Amino acid sequence: MILGNRRSALKKTNVLDKSVLEKFYGADSFDFTLKNDNSIFVCSKLKELDLIELDQLLQTVGWSRRPIRRVKRALQFSILVVGLWKHDEKFPRLVGFARCTGDGILEATIWDVAVNPVYQGLGLGKEIMKYILRELKISGISKVTLFADAGVVRFYKNQGWTLEPKGTKCAFWYAN
Ligand SMILES: CC(C)(COP(=O)(O)OP(=O)(O)OC[C@H]1O[C@@H](n2cnc3c(N)ncnc32)[C@H](O)[C@@H]1OP(=O)(O)O)[C@@H](O)C(=O)NCCC(=O)NCCS
Repeated sequence: MILGNRRSALKKTNVLDKSVLEKFYGADSFDFTLKNDNSIFVCSKLKELDLIELDQLLQTVGWSRRPIRRVKRALQFSILVVGLWKHDEKFPRLVGFARCTGDGILEATIWDVAVNPVYQGLGLGKEIMKYILRELKISGISKVTLFADAGVVRFYKNQGWTLEPKGTKCAFWYAN
């Protein structure tokens, strides 16, 4: 059981048979296990998301709820939507998520990176980010941006992200 071990890390990749992986999660998915745990996790850009399950996941990290209908549209307009699944042939469980918007050719912006708190601190967030950047790179996208909450900046910085220099480059506009 992984609960209680907050310092896990990637142990092994290609743990599932390729045909099983593709059948449940689609092509280009990425499976791995963590140290000290036998659970299999899979990053997938093709496995369809249950919007209620996604809503529940995003609630676990404390984000305010968004109308399911609008989220569905937002996902349709996203260029990359990634689910992180705890593998189970009968009941795979969505434990992480992220998505990207952009033109699909030159630039992308990453949004809604979330890992269920029960599974945080194990290296899963980092794997989602690696998977996203790999997929964007395959599409030829070389400029990626994101907006981090203040408490999470270090998470990205540790992974090599460059911070905006002294608040001089970024501007926001909110409708209210
Ligand atoms: C941010 C988040 C996605 C990280 O996921 P995670 O699976 O817990 O992260 P990982 O276990 O892969 O952590 C990777 C590294 O980042 C560090 N880290 C994780 N969360 C961090 C945080 N909030 N602040 C600073 N560092 C953090 C870890 O200590 C770890 O460091 P290490 O490589 O030196 O061991 C997750 O905490 C989360 O869902 N938070 C709530 C939602 C949120 O704020 N999302 C980001 C919106 S900008």
